[in-house]
Amino acid sequence: MPWYSEEKIEEVRSRSDIVEVIGSYVRLKHSGSSYAGLCPFHSEKTPSFYVSPARQMYKCFGCGAGGNVITFVMEYENYSFPEAMEYLAGRAGIVLPKQDMTREQRERENLRMLLLEINTKAAKYYYAKLKSPKGKAGYEYLRSRGLTDETITRFGLGYAGQGGDELYQYMKHEGYRDEMLKETGLFKMDERGAYDKFWNRVMFPIMDVNNRVIGFGGRVMGDAKPKYLNSPETKLFDKSRNLFGLNYAKQGKRKYLILCEGYMDVIAMQQAGFTGAVASLGTAFTEQQANLLRRYADEVLLTYDSDEAGVKAALRAIPILRGAGLPARIVRLKPYKDPDEFMKAMGAEEFEKRLDDAQNSFYFELDKIKERFDLSDPEQMTRYYHEVARKLLVFEDKVQRDNYLEAVSARYGIRKEDLRELVIRYGTSLPNGYAAAAEETEKKQGTKKTEEMGIFHTYSLFLSWLAETPELYELVKDKITPDDFEGESFREAASLFYAQLEQGELVPAKIINHFTDVESQNMAARMFQTDFQAKMSPEEREKAFNELVIRIKEHSIDLRMRRLTDMGELQKLVMEKKQWQTPEKLHISLKDGNS
Ligand code: GTP
Ligand code: MN
Repeated sequence: MPWYSEEKIEEVRSRSDIVEVIGSYVRLKHSGSSYAGLCPFHSEKTPSFYVSPARQMYKCFGCGAGGNVITFVMEYENYSFPEAMEYLAGRAGIVLPKQDMTREQRERENLRMLLLEINTKAAKYYYAKLKSPKGKAGYEYLRSRGLTDETITRFGLGYAGQGGDELYQYMKHEGYRDEMLKETGLFKMDERGAYDKFWNRVMFPIMDVNNRVIGFGGRVMGDAKPKYLNSPETKLFDKSRNLFGLNYAKQGKRKYLILCEGYMDVIAMQQAGFTGAVASLGTAFTEQQANLLRRYADEVLLTYDSDEAGVKAALRAIPILRGAGLPARIVRLKPYKDPDEFMKAMGAEEFEKRLDDAQNSFYFELDKIKERFDLSDPEQMTRYYHEVARKLLVFEDKVQRDNYLEAVSARYGIRKEDLRELVIRYGTSLPNGYAAAAEETEKKQGTKKTEEMGIFHTYSLFLSWLAETPELYELVKDKITPDDFEGESFREAASLFYAQLEQGELVPAKIINHFTDVESQNMAARMFQTDFQAKMSPEEREKAFNELVIRIKEHSIDLRMRRLTDMGELQKLVMEKKQWQTPEKLHISLKDGNS
């Protein structure tokens, strides 16, 4: 539910012209009835990002990003919904009344602001401590690791003292209540009292892209365990959506960003002049992080640790980056463990060379596959061929796949004809061709998701079709109702959409206002993108549309069947499904003037 009244949201949206707003971030060119530009959410050389003034929506045909002016600002600036509202309202000269939010919403937003405030104060406290006599141990530790005063200040590094509850006492003195402090994750509280989570550690404040402190990492100054402690996830701190160092690394679109594992690696690289270095936050690299990187770079250079764990982590990150459309290369650090150690031993110039020599991530993957087989044994050799062929299916684009096939057969000495035959065999033996095969190879448990994507895609097509040809609504509204849609947000979007069609006024951008999380917004935005009907003949269109209707209905009946316990009801549903399977009876004719 929105944080502001629907009217307010609509006022802000309708008074923020999407072309103007997006135009201030992206260079847009007139193209037919819309504007086109290079997508800010993924890396591309030819524009596939479109902004429609009529619909007040944007859509990227390359990466699928889409939405209205509010979602754009949320995605681009990494703002929460209220933050985006404030930003746009400010721009349009609209005053947002505080009381417009419900009490609960206001409290949530206030809490967020308070948490930010406490985090900032904590960062300053740790920093001051580091620079004070009591922080000598921390300061000397950081200096001994080669950090300059300038770097320490730039990253706001600090020191958590030895007292055990110093920070807590300080925050109490500043007037914060326990229930607030508890939410920051900086304190441990139980019946016996409250303690600092971090003590006797050097502190790394973690900032989001807008330089706001959202959490901390703390390192012991010796060999004690655990080496690092990190803030838990809080209402502010989402580890899967942020990257350490990105606030410094972001600067327009770079040729490459360097992704590594550790805070110290980021700091050492940035200090040495490699300002595009970032790290995930002590957790596995995620899809959201890949999308975030894609905004700021055309390529990712992976500098994960050279040990076994680092290689494993790299092998997990590569498909995620590839999935986000970001090419990756792997930087060899051996014989050193990580970028920090490499830099100390070899210096920036040698590091630069390693970056230049970074290996194509696909070859890196194949090398690792090869290591698993004893190629002097024909049996294993065969299995190796098969694995390579399956791996080639990650490339959905045929030209790209063929290019790799050529290159791989030359590089690994695999007979090209054999490889091609295997690729074709694997590619076509799977139900949905190459894409499905690739996904299966990439992530083993991805099957459920693909199914959902299937019906989701059907919904989108169906609704897009209605958006393009509202006259169809009268023909189908009794056959497919919003209740036929699976998933709460889809059902909700469909019913809003139906309500608009009912009133004869279609404002797609307005529907998106109803969703406050980015995922649902994207989902809603995708309903209105069509580029598939044009090439069809009228007969094809009619057939395709009827198939969509039947598919949705069947899926809906299946769902109802699954939930059912009453046998009598089941009988009815079976009959209903049968009816739908003889589509002549329900045929929808598009012949009357809907071309
Ligand atoms: P230094 O020893 O300071 O150079 O650290 P490093 O960056 O080389 O550390 P390492 O490669 O061991 O770890 C990389 C990242 O994983 C760190 O930056 C932390 O975010 C995280 N990490 C490492 N050790 C721990 C730990 O013991 N607990 C937790 N929660 N995270 C850790
Ligand atoms: Mn290290």
